[in-house]
Amino acid sequence: MKNNNMTHIFSLNSKSSRRILLTPGLLGALTAVVSVGGAMPGQAAYPPTATGSHGAVAADHELASQAGVEILSQGGNAVDAAIAAALALGVVQPAGSGLGGGGFLLIRTSSGQIAAIDFREVAPKLATRDMFIDASTGKVVPERSRWGGLASGVPGEAAGFAKALSEFGTMKPAQVIAPALRLADRGFPAGRHLARSAAVVVPKLAEPHPLRALLAPQGKLLTVGMTVRRPELASTLRMLSQAGFLAFYKTQPGAIGDDLLQANRSAGGLLQAEDLASYKPVARTPMTGRFRNHQLFVIPPPSGGITALEALQILNARPALAQGPTASATLHETIESLKHAFADRAKLHGDPAFTNIPVEELASAAYASGRAATIQPDRVLPPQSYGRPGTDKPLSPPRDKGTSHLCVIDRNGNAAALTTTVNLSFGARVVGAKSGVLLNNQMDDFTAKPATENAFGLVGDEANLVAPGKRPASSMTPLIAVGPDGTVMCAGGSGGPTIVTGVVQTLINLIDFGMDAEAAVSAPRIHAQFLPDSVLIEPEIPSDVRDKLTARGHKLVVTPAPLETAVQVVVYRPASGTQPATWTAASDPRKGGKPAIAPR
Ligand code: GLY
Repeated sequence: MKNNNMTHIFSLNSKSSRRILLTPGLLGALTAVVSVGGAMPGQAAYPPTATGSHGAVAADHELASQAGVEILSQGGNAVDAAIAAALALGVVQPAGSGLGGGGFLLIRTSSGQIAAIDFREVAPKLATRDMFIDASTGKVVPERSRWGGLASGVPGEAAGFAKALSEFGTMKPAQVIAPALRLADRGFPAGRHLARSAAVVVPKLAEPHPLRALLAPQGKLLTVGMTVRRPELASTLRMLSQAGFLAFYKTQPGAIGDDLLQANRSAGGLLQAEDLASYKPVARTPMTGRFRNHQLFVIPPPSGGITALEALQILNARPALAQGPTASATLHETIESLKHAFADRAKLHGDPAFTNIPVEELASAAYASGRAATIQPDRVLPPQSYGRPGTDKPLSPPRDKGTSHLCVIDRNGNAAALTTTVNLSFGARVVGAKSGVLLNNQMDDFTAKPATENAFGLVGDEANLVAPGKRPASSMTPLIAVGPDGTVMCAGGSGGPTIVTGVVQTLINLIDFGMDAEAAVSAPRIHAQFLPDSVLIEPEIPSDVRDKLTARGHKLVVTPAPLETAVQVVVYRPASGTQPATWTAASDPRKGGKPAIAPR
């Protein structure tokens, strides 16, 4: 890979369960993380293994994985393929991501260089701290940050891809855009996740509404297999092919940005030409830590990587997980570690340009040991005991339904972990009429008002209040783990805060329990985020295990369907002796994705 701007890179050396009442807040949280594309009855627990010897892509849609592999087959590297796969996802899985959103990319080269690009949305320059509060009542108006013009931050994906491609890729924009352009132009069969997302959203749309043309063409709700064409988005992708990704931000009449400003303003938004012109992705110095004998790499805040890092390091400082992946002792240790990490996330995380976050302390082994020492094997702790001692602020975990994660490891062992999002399903539900770009509703990831309950029964904190140019705190967790033998594990997921818990449990499954990638992402999971003070638990976890967790003090909520934590993983094992290198990829069955392996 090119490394011509590597100043930010450092070298690697190296039924019987007690069910609790579902309050409106908790029910909101629960429905926010229960999949619209969850595993179907009769679906195999573990999808078939995808293993090969020339690189692999795991996205949460088969066509996106194939787009990435197409680029690998043409000689592209992991970053080229990750961009191609992400652009394809924006076409075929518009509920989750697209050019109107933003995200994070973590890169590790085969030589051990590590880099990260933050292309998270920022609040518009006209944004104000109280913009989601009704001046007459003083109350938060949740709809304002979720649907319509005020909900959108300045999109970052195109600028992020421009930076990633020029600094770490090898191909021209037209090459990496080609698979997505073909899908938008010629059409593709609607997948399960798109059809089910459409079924949820369409009844909530006004009549008429620009999203109806996409989700219910000619008044007929999309069903699995119906051909979807996206001609407006195809014209946008064609423009970017010709003029480069930064053409997205141009606002002269007829330009993409002009169309986005018109769409945003007519929906009551604040975006201006100046916002688009000044958007800049940020190179972040990845953070590192340890889990067992693996070195971990994540992206610092506003990414959610540090929460996963913290939980894994606390677990690392605890006695080994000697029982199976769904044993009550394993789950208890995991939940308690996650509660510490999430307590810190809620209290302390925000945009580091606006708030002082003690990231080095939180990521240190000493801090992990201190938190680990508080964990009791037979019971939960009093709520004030979780997280950093002495930090006592309101708490606000985030949520989302519209994110997508993919992993690529190329034939040379370069790895790219990319998570991108429009936030909630189909973002702000505002579409550029000519560009076909769906604008994000990332403003809902800010805290609208301190000490006020949000839709999920939670209160927010100071560090994550709205400010012009500020990035909202995120749960997106691209993560790369490197083993002592050079094994590289690339992971990440979608599903708001369940991203962190899904990634942590997948890493435990891979490293502690030696599961292969498919088993690791498919195994039943729990979700604990400190507040609400309950643990979501997938129905496959046996009732005797649930009883033992309940006896320790956990308040379990058995989810009616699998959680929406679609974790994608690629594991690269280098050649050893006579054994060739192998690439094993898995896409989470919860969202119906499918990985792809590069042919020879
Ligand atoms: N919008 C979801 C997240 O960034 O966590």
